[in-house]
Amino acid sequence: MEQIPYILAIESSCDDTSAAVLYGNKVLSNEVASQEVHTAYGGVVPELASRAHQQNIVPVVDRALKVANIKPSQLHAIAFTNGPGLMGSLLVGTSFAKSLALALDIPLVPVHHMHAHILAHLIEDAHPITPISFPFICLTVSGGHTQLVLVKGPKAMDILGETIDDAVGEAFDKAAKILGLPYPGGPVIDKLAQTGNSGFMAFGRSLVDGYNFSFSGMKTSFLYNLQKKVKEDPDFVSKHLNDICASYQNALLDVLFKKLELAVKDYGIKHVAIAGGVSANSGLRNRLTKLGTDKNLTVYLPPIQYTMDNAAMIGIAGYYNLLAGEEAPLSISASAKIKF
Ligand code: KG4
Ligand code: ZN
Repeated sequence: MEQIPYILAIESSCDDTSAAVLYGNKVLSNEVASQEVHTAYGGVVPELASRAHQQNIVPVVDRALKVANIKPSQLHAIAFTNGPGLMGSLLVGTSFAKSLALALDIPLVPVHHMHAHILAHLIEDAHPITPISFPFICLTVSGGHTQLVLVKGPKAMDILGETIDDAVGEAFDKAAKILGLPYPGGPVIDKLAQTGNSGFMAFGRSLVDGYNFSFSGMKTSFLYNLQKKVKEDPDFVSKHLNDICASYQNALLDVLFKKLELAVKDYGIKHVAIAGGVSANSGLRNRLTKLGTDKNLTVYLPPIQYTMDNAAMIGIAGYYNLLAGEEAPLSISASAKIKF
């Protein structure tokens, strides 16, 4: 494609309905409707998520086009998340994208959600002064995934390691639930941890082989540890909430950094990035910045608006897929589990 394309991107893999318009690698709009409905349940309820996507998708796409000041007839392609994610949620975005591509008679471009989290770093305003350069190692940390990826190019990524059970975002969210904090718990724990003592409690650190991660044991150890303390003092949680959050967050970050540092050393890679919802975590960002200074690494922190699920990242990944000629037939469906 010689002309720089206008791309409408749609993301609906979990509990955020998002639409964005990109002009090449430039984001013109990035609208996100988060679903409050799950807060009361302490986690995402798949059935409610797909219903909320159905209600949100038309107004969100409409807003994205208005903010970008683009008419549907100006679009060159529709990019959409076709997996991985919750099937009911993915189907809403997929059906919408297919209908619009058919109506406008323009290419339909499927995007892998986890590729998109990483490629958000290639958005023009993600790193306007020093654009990210290849190869880099990316630690992708979200509610559904924890991966260490060697990124050699926009279309060349190898998973070095990943979680063998829970994602680190889940470990944040489940601990928050145990503490009686609202969903999603990650940002709440982050905030409370900022004024807590990270050495207050010693939570176990699970370390599995190689570059893989395991977080389910840490969540269980958190629960048992806390139950023991509450037995001794029923007000333990309310008295020490910030210190508990800081200690637990520190334990999770220790595990992430152990593996990240190992991969950086073994591969001799000097460029390191983080991505995904948990990459908004202030403790993680500070620690990575410090690691960069200590070990002479170039560190890339994504702007906060590109950390959580958003359609701008689907748009940039869609742009590179389109350049590679990866258009899908209208018969394509969503896949809850899809090869990286
Ligand atoms: O990438 P994302 O929006 O959705 C998935 O693809 O899963 O990530 C959501 C996850 C949730 O587990 C949420 O608690 C976590 O990201 N999260 C955070 C922070 N902000 C979001 N975790 C820790 N600290 C934060 N500041
Ligand atoms: Zn995500």
